[in-house]
Amino acid sequence: MRPHVTDETHDPADGTASLESDLGPTGRPLRDFPEPPPLTSHGPARIIALCNQKGGVGKTTTTINLGATLAEYGRRVLAVDFDPQGALSAGLGVQTHDVPTIYDLLLSRQLDPADTIQHTGTPNLDVIPANIDLSAAEVHLVTEVAREQILASVLRRVSADYDVILIDCQPSLGLLTVNALTASHGVVIPLECEYFALRGVALLIETIDKVRDRLNPAIELDGILATMYDARTLHSREVLERVVDAFGDKVLETVITRTVKFPDATVAATPITEFAPDHQASRSYRQLARELVDRGAVA
Ligand SMILES: Nc1ncnc2c1ncn2[C@@H]1O[C@H](COP(=O)(O)OP(=O)(O)OP(=O)(O)O)[C@@H](O)[C@H]1O
Ligand SMILES: [Mg+2]
Repeated sequence: MRPHVTDETHDPADGTASLESDLGPTGRPLRDFPEPPPLTSHGPARIIALCNQKGGVGKTTTTINLGATLAEYGRRVLAVDFDPQGALSAGLGVQTHDVPTIYDLLLSRQLDPADTIQHTGTPNLDVIPANIDLSAAEVHLVTEVAREQILASVLRRVSADYDVILIDCQPSLGLLTVNALTASHGVVIPLECEYFALRGVALLIETIDKVRDRLNPAIELDGILATMYDARTLHSREVLERVVDAFGDKVLETVITRTVKFPDATVAATPITEFAPDHQASRSYRQLARELVDRGAVA
């Protein structure tokens, strides 16, 4: 974690508070996305990878809280921890030791993915955990047949039970991330609102393009999510402006403000939407869930 994350002692009441007009932080009119209608049937899941090879940009935080808010809206959500650090598993308070993990699923076709799924304290939100074992996976998978498609074949076996599967990628563009992209229908790229944010995004998009060409023709960029936005700093506003200049409508209208509540929720091993349901950050993640449903990225 960066030291400056915790510098802030209070949160702006609203991420847009310091903007004069009723334009949102991305320069488009502020909209309230409609509450998603309840689903009458469930599955098969649309699979979304949360991906950015830059570390600490909010991939795990977004997976947890987007998962929790979609679950609040009655969607059946499976979050897949695909990072050997196991931060997603820890953040949702599930077991990672002496239990089967995503690593075991990658290595053994005999193991039933359903036997690795753990329920969280949030109804409708399940997890396939990871632990440090996963760091050995790339080495083991290199010699496998169709090594990029192994996660896809694992997730096919549970897809019918869920409306959405969110994959929390590790900060790298290695074989595990390529597996995640090959398994996914869509990608959401969390992007921290700070000066080197755009560095590396070109390479990430190039990787997504290669995966589309060679492995997964259907993959779409569902959106770029600006995270850790601080409307009080010119810096944050300028970075967001450049991101919108570069990516236009691919930038999601929802922006996640920087707040110390996130580290606090992490310590409590619970989604912020339950830790502080009325906090601006919780409202933002609910808005993100509604925006993704509105865009058709989630049922
Ligand atoms: N909007 C936010 N405001 C303040 N802190 C945040 C915010 N989002 C995430 N954080 C904190 O920043 C740190 C990094 O976030 P997170 O773990 O979600 O990033 P990540 O992209 O998954 O990192 P990694 O690449 O290491 O997996 C965490 O301590 C998290 O609590
Ligand atoms: Mg992470």
